[in-house]
Amino acid sequence: MSDELLVFADVVKHFRARGKRVVRAVDGVSFAVDRGETVALVGESGSGKSTVARLVLRLVRPTSGTISFSGRRAQMVFQDPYSSLDPRMTARTIVAEPLVVARRRRVARVRVPALFDAVGLGREHLTRYPHELSGGQRQRVALARALALDPDLVVLDEPVTALDVSIQAQILNLLVELQRRRSLSYLFVAHDLAVVRHVADRVLVMHLGKLVEVATTAELFDAPAHPYTEALLSAIPEPDPAVERERQRIVLRGELPSAANPPSGCRFRTRCWKAQARCAEEEPALTDRDGVGHPVACHFPDVRA
Ligand SMILES: Nc1ncnc2c1ncn2[C@@H]1O[C@H](COP(=O)(O)OP(=O)(O)OP(=O)(O)O)[C@@H](O)[C@H]1O
Ligand code: SF4
Ligand SMILES: [Mg+2]
Repeated sequence: MSDELLVFADVVKHFRARGKRVVRAVDGVSFAVDRGETVALVGESGSGKSTVARLVLRLVRPTSGTISFSGRRAQMVFQDPYSSLDPRMTARTIVAEPLVVARRRRVARVRVPALFDAVGLGREHLTRYPHELSGGQRQRVALARALALDPDLVVLDEPVTALDVSIQAQILNLLVELQRRRSLSYLFVAHDLAVVRHVADRVLVMHLGKLVEVATTAELFDAPAHPYTEALLSAIPEPDPAVERERQRIVLRGELPSAANPPSGCRFRTRCWKAQARCAEEEPALTDRDGVGHPVACHFPDVRA
């Protein structure tokens, strides 16, 4: 039996914006998430990450392509638990709600306190309202709610972006611990590669609706092959101030092109320092290339030394 829990095969999602403009938010994306695996999806704002997340949860339907999910259940955790949690409900009611909706009120009575334990929230928080909780505690409540129906897959859309750095680390550790205990898979959406470094098994790098590089986390950090990935990596600050001062940064020049009107050929070419004539004519496919060792969508990828 295959270990694949979620498979995207050439998935396209186009939105029809005002004035009949078509926004190509997701434009032919293929990947798989295995059981027990954490896959990160990274890219700048507008690259299509949340649209992929919403496609997984069937909140939107693909324009074309197929999405197969062989698990029983997928749940989502959003970036801002303040706006995703109902302010009029107590934490207990918020976490119990999916069970109540599934007509499992009796189960909820036992399971909700156990879920509070699992996410590291004391029982005194059961009766609190969202505004009485800190950002980290709210995100723990959101996680407990997501776990209430025992999902196989949790889609995390920027789950720590709104939190202070010290709290981010606590939530990331909690995610790792929960995964170990519950054999969960995660699809972890982030714009920041630093956040996913210690939690992801593999990374999908997304740019303007397309995947441009796919590799294990170790390989991606050691030997990035796509110029866009290199730019994302170079944006990560170094913890050592001396190293940080000497660090070479790649600053992308020019505007991020619109997903309604992407450049011909390679969509990154208007901001790429390695672009050549071929890049405007021929779209680079996401494929294994000599000397790289993992799929990359670039005609002139960096190869290993
Ligand atoms: N319902 C919609 N109607 C029209 N356009 C949309 C819709 N949803 C998303 N888009 C557009 O699709 C593109 C991708 O959006 P998406 O939210 O998936 O990006 P993202 O990578 O999650 O960005 P961010 O990091 O800002 O959250 C953007 O150009 C966005 O404006
Ligand atoms: S295909 Fe060309 S423009 Fe695109 S990333 Fe590679 S070198 Fe840059
Ligand atoms: Mg988003």
